[in-house]
Amino acid sequence: MSLVTQEELIKKLKPVYLDHEIDGRILPLTEEINRLKKEKNAVILGHNYMTPDVFWGVSDIIGDSLYLSKMAKETKADIILFNGVHFMAETAKILSPQKKVLIADLKAGCSLAESITREDVRKLKAEYPGVPVVTYVNCSAEVKAETDVCCTSANAVQIVNAIDSDTIIFLPDEYLAGNVQKETNKKLITHPGRCMVHEMYTPEDIRSTKRLFNNDVTVITHPECHEDVVAEADFSGSTSQMVDFIQKSKTNKIMLVTECSMGDNLRSQFPEKEFVSTCQTCPHMKRITLEKVRDALLEEKFEIFLEEEVILSAQKSVNRMLELSFKK
Ligand code: 13P
Ligand code: SF4
Repeated sequence: MSLVTQEELIKKLKPVYLDHEIDGRILPLTEEINRLKKEKNAVILGHNYMTPDVFWGVSDIIGDSLYLSKMAKETKADIILFNGVHFMAETAKILSPQKKVLIADLKAGCSLAESITREDVRKLKAEYPGVPVVTYVNCSAEVKAETDVCCTSANAVQIVNAIDSDTIIFLPDEYLAGNVQKETNKKLITHPGRCMVHEMYTPEDIRSTKRLFNNDVTVITHPECHEDVVAEADFSGSTSQMVDFIQKSKTNKIMLVTECSMGDNLRSQFPEKEFVSTCQTCPHMKRITLEKVRDALLEEKFEIFLEEEVILSAQKSVNRMLELSFKK
């Protein structure tokens, strides 16, 4: 099963790929991958930053990191292949430890996850005894194991405000922390981690685009951008919140301040809208290709293994986040 029929897939790919690439590479590979998925009872989760061939061609479930975590927990499949980055596949393993969780390239990392170790968190906890720790899911399983509650960009303010403490250690994204700080009365203690994609944007990038289009452009940012960049935007939210915003809004011209493939995928999803301006590429997300996805399913590699102690501790912080986010 796939999200789209072959006819719909071709329509979605046409704005981005040449015909010979669609016919000669993408369609044969997606067919092979979708057959392997069925044979192995595997589910493919696809993050919004996957390239359109991977995103539309082979995903069973698409979304932001929060939604995909929830779905990793709920799936009945035997194998989860996570088309995203390593911390996302680890989160799936934490939530579904009995399942085989695969990622097509183990080097698909994240500058935020690499910015902090378990030892760094232990030091901060010793420096601020009793202060609760909230970590962005963009971190390793070991860091999650030191955490009280995880959060994503979709629910960071909600999680921080739900915690019964005036001071919170908020890790590891200092820019996300800056954006959350503007919406909470709690004092956040941060760490100097940044997303290598979103830190590239400046307020002037937005101002100059607005000037170019005489202000007739709606600007959407990811909260991993600096707070001065977010301050220039009409909307800021997680990758799926961006999709919802566009779906509901009447705006026709959109400047996306986020990763490039998100723009390509939205262009296919909303052909009636115009997406303007440049974008930034995440080299980690771009490691996931159709060829590697096919090999990963075929050889059931690369499997995510975590120590039981890490899984049990990290489960508490990720499950707490899901409870707070999806409480009825
Ligand atoms: P989302 O949770 O918004 O999908 O973001 C994940 C991410 O890595 C953004 O850079
Ligand atoms: Fe990490 Fe940024 Fe890439 Fe997302 S876009 S995976 S936060 S480096």
